[in-house]
Amino acid sequence: MSRITELIDKLEKDRILTKDEYTEIIRGHTPEDDEYLFEKARAVREKIYGKAVYMRGLIEFTNYCKNDCYYCGIRRSAKNAERYRLTEEQILQCCEKGHELGFRTFVLQGGEDGWYTDERIVDIVSRIKERFPDCAVTLSIGEKSRESYEKYRKAGADRYLLRHETANNDHYRKIHPPELSPENRKRCLADLKELGFQTGCGFMVGSPHQTPEHLAEDILYISELQPHMVGIGPFIPHHDTPYAEEKSGALEMTLLMLGLIRLTLPDVLLPATTALGTIDPKGREKGLLAGANVVMPNLSPRDVRNKYLLYDNKICTGDEAAECVACLGRRVSSVGYQLVTDRGDHKAN
Ligand code: SAM
Ligand code: FES
Repeated sequence: MSRITELIDKLEKDRILTKDEYTEIIRGHTPEDDEYLFEKARAVREKIYGKAVYMRGLIEFTNYCKNDCYYCGIRRSAKNAERYRLTEEQILQCCEKGHELGFRTFVLQGGEDGWYTDERIVDIVSRIKERFPDCAVTLSIGEKSRESYEKYRKAGADRYLLRHETANNDHYRKIHPPELSPENRKRCLADLKELGFQTGCGFMVGSPHQTPEHLAEDILYISELQPHMVGIGPFIPHHDTPYAEEKSGALEMTLLMLGLIRLTLPDVLLPATTALGTIDPKGREKGLLAGANVVMPNLSPRDVRNKYLLYDNKICTGDEAAECVACLGRRVSSVGYQLVTDRGDHKAN
């Protein structure tokens, strides 16, 4: 028994470690420790969710954004980004196609784009829920007031994804412009949970200035918030941002985080992200084997896919939705899991 495997056992039992203990794992883990962790992470997820992997249809409906996050390829200052917005009809067509392909969750994601007023968002959500009553609608449209979130919830939105990006306030301020604050980000997440959304937070692994201690703080923050979903993917540089010359986050560290989160929050819904598939051809499969249980194929129309580029070399930008589903189905089966088409709601453990 190594010191790290002892800590993993403790985490499995208590579902929480101290910041120093998480940091010790993050700094000291070996590939053998990782295997030990992943085996436990799989056992925990299979006890709750079996072999099911849930799919979410991602609709990237606007790449306009008023924010200027230093890492993001669609930030306001990315002058070469070719901007687009989908109309309400186009969004509904994506859902229509997705529904035929078996999707029962639609994730509407976009930059913070003022063109989509609360009224427009409410209208889009209501129309999707009316037309597809058996589907869950997830919004991922950034920081809003509590009143706005309340309107979306009343319109029928079931879930909301808002990565906290980093739980450490100094780190947050380093990778964001001064007008964005960690306090407001966390306020949004608290509001979303209180309003009854199935709520997702999350962070990038290997973002500039990140330390092992920051990652430990991310896990502690997540343990405190108890979100229903956690989106974790590697940071990948985008050529048109201040971080163009930075290194990508590492595969091994991203997988370790997935495993640690699974043991900390056994019933969490945890995607194997597109970013993970971008840094390694088998990244998503490895993510599933480390404890992930969700995939998010792209349902955006093909002609806008290569415009929603948060980072360089993003995969799946040229495929039709049906091809993405078939490809992911094969990938999921190849590691012994099964892609399923139900809503895949969070199961309280
Ligand atoms: N505007 C919404 C928001 O702020 O939540 C949703 C869109 S935002 C582009 C979605 C997520 O993409 C961010 O939360 C961030 O973690 C991730 N992201 C942005 N730039 C990235 C990069 N260069 N590498 C990896 N992930 C990135
Ligand atoms: Fe707004 Fe990235 S800066 S979506």
